[in-house]
Amino acid sequence: MEAGDRFIRQYVNTTRALSTSIVAHLENGVVRGTAELRPMAGHRVAEIALSVEKPWRRRGLGTVLLRRIIGEAQDQRVRLIYFRFLAGNLAMKGLAAKFTTDMTLDDMDVVGQIDPRLDVPKTANQPSSMGWVRQIYSAFWN
Ligand SMILES: CC(C)(COP(=O)(O)OP(=O)(O)OC[C@H]1O[C@@H](n2cnc3c(N)ncnc32)[C@H](O)[C@@H]1OP(=O)(O)O)[C@@H](O)C(=O)NCCC(=O)NCCS
Repeated sequence: MEAGDRFIRQYVNTTRALSTSIVAHLENGVVRGTAELRPMAGHRVAEIALSVEKPWRRRGLGTVLLRRIIGEAQDQRVRLIYFRFLAGNLAMKGLAAKFTTDMTLDDMDVVGQIDPRLDVPKTANQPSSMGWVRQIYSAFWN
């Protein structure tokens, strides 16, 4: 599904209004995957969301993006990363399991948390052979 200009403008406005940080993977100037960190509860707790374009999945991109957004959370002194996804989302379940065992079922969702102050497990430290560009956007741009 292609995002139109209106959608992108709204997305950027929401991102800025909620002080969201984004780590993005770009190839030839095109974003192919993102991880977002959205502060909650006075910036000590933050929610994450990840997205990798279908043809780029299952190559380790999600793992690297999650590792990097945890690094961003560490830099921002976030104490708790919170996430939620549909219980049937096996990809996210497998990805999250590389970083935490703290996951529970809440109705149709899995909710989990990651302590960014803990070391990222070695299984999540796969080097990437791809050309990575780190882009952090935040509400403090201007
Ligand atoms: C979840 C998502 C970000 C994973 O991205 P990815 O680049 O494919 O992730 P990785 O290649 O780093 O895979 C990490 C682990 O996830 C699991 N995984 C990924 N795809 C999977 C699939 N199709 N089925 C089962 N497990 C899968 C595996 O455990 C994998 O580790 P492995 O390759 O060592 O077996 C991607 O599938 C996505 O964008 N999905 C749609 C958006 C979404 O659901 N976001 C989550 C809501 S926050």
